Amino acid sequence: MSALIAPSILSADFANLERDLHRISNADYAHVDVMDNHFVPNLTLGLPVFERLAQVSPIPLDAHLMIEDPDRWAPAYAEAGAASVTFHAEAATAPVRLAREIRRLGARACVAFRPATPVEPFVDLLGEVDMLLLMTVEPGFGGQSFIEGTLPKIRRARRAVADAGLQVRIQVDGGVSRETIERAAEAGADVFVAGSAVYGADDVAGEITALRRLADG
Ligand code: DX5
Ligand code: ZN
Repeated sequence: MSALIAPSILSADFANLERDLHRISNADYAHVDVMDNHFVPNLTLGLPVFERLAQVSPIPLDAHLMIEDPDRWAPAYAEAGAASVTFHAEAATAPVRLAREIRRLGARACVAFRPATPVEPFVDLLGEVDMLLLMTVEPGFGGQSFIEGTLPKIRRARRAVADAGLQVRIQVDGGVSRETIERAAEAGADVFVAGSAVYGADDVAGEITALRRLADG
């Protein structure tokens, strides 16, 4: 499966989100980081803003919910028009039920893991989701360094997906740049979130193309 690039609008200008969505219109998804200041020590945006972003975005939205009680909140992001809705394994009470509900509402379901959370206890969930998100930094902030120690976990997750005979995508999020994307791709990732690397570039569209080319090898 060819690599997908999902720039994170966490590094966009929050006073110009519509403009900055249009700056990444050659990407596959716009990654939207929802933080509640409980699951992570930072606060970004919630459902009312997300609903408007879904209405004006030229590309599909990938909602990354870094929130407590995703069982309660995640379905509304699917209803708002998210192409995919990602909840954290550490936060969900009933992940299977939640993944099914997200899919029933027409979005792709994805489960996310902090760097230190093992994926092995969740292998039974693989058939219920379209994507795994493996955090390659501690969630909460953009601009951190890629944690190289997550590479073996990406490999193990890719092997588990292959062993199960499934088509589940593996997304990496945090510190993804021209310097790190090839190692993540080689380990088995095929969806790449990049915030500061994309929005920090002089040529935003060109950076997306460059990252995609490196990831595709
Ligand atoms: C961090 C967010 C990321 C963040 C990545 O908790 O989930 O999506 O925007 O930013 P960079 O690419 O700058 O590490
Ligand atoms: Zn994210």
